[in-house]
Amino acid sequence: MKIIMLGAPGAGKGTQAKMIAEKYSVPHVSTGDIFRANIKNGTELGKQAKEYMDAGKLVPDELTVKILLDRVAQDDCKNGYVLDGFPRTIPQAQVLEDALNKLGEKIDYAINVDVPDENIVKRMSGRRACLKCGATYHIEHIPPKQEGICDTCGSELVLRDDDKPETVLNRLKVYHDQTQPLIDFYSERNVLKTVDGTRDLKDVFADIIAILG
Ligand code: AP5
Ligand code: MG
Repeated sequence: MKIIMLGAPGAGKGTQAKMIAEKYSVPHVSTGDIFRANIKNGTELGKQAKEYMDAGKLVPDELTVKILLDRVAQDDCKNGYVLDGFPRTIPQAQVLEDALNKLGEKIDYAINVDVPDENIVKRMSGRRACLKCGATYHIEHIPPKQEGICDTCGSELVLRDDDKPETVLNRLKVYHDQTQPLIDFYSERNVLKTVDGTRDLKDVFADIIAILG
């Protein structure tokens, strides 16, 4: 099963993608997590990506596409995957579609987690992230068992550099300009499913499971 998560920054793509990946035993592939791991490890890719990310801009397609195609070509992806944060532009979606076409494959579902802009800024300022394992918490809605510490791997939790309110507003603008057109792209391919992402995360997940079967 090949699934794409669509939605604004902070809509809950990562939160839901992790739960889907666990339930259906497929890898959760997040380009944002891949970039953050590279930044943390001080790689050349990380240095290049950080500049764009901290400004709330998209990392250029040239850097992003190759990383994603390499990742989904790995063995653990042969039975499917959940893509979170990719594609984010029409050219990225086209490259992915072409690569899958060559293999006689296609995306099965594009799940659009719908959350209005008003809710987003509030969510982001409360988010805490684990840069080691990618787990995400929220200080009010989804607190870790011990404040500031990841339940899964015991690492320190941080406020992401790009979760500052002014950067979030930039990311929202970039989302509406460059990523939202993907809703039509996948709708035309009859794989788009929209869920209301403003509700409790368990209810959102129940809707997604009802779609995926
Ligand atoms: P990325 O890491 O993908 O960030 P994003 O799309 O901006 O999305 P977020 O991770 O911020 O939000 P999310 O939807 O995953 O929400 P979450 O589940 O955490 O990308 C970061 C940057 O990398 C980009 O800006 C760009 O620069 C670059 N990049 C990445 N991919 C790229 C690409 N393909 N091309 C170019 N550049 C790329 O939830 C948010 C918060 O809300 C959390 O605290 C969570 O606990 C809480 N929450 C979740 N669900 C609920 C709920 N139902 N109710 C209440 N709270 C909830
Ligand atoms: Mg995320």
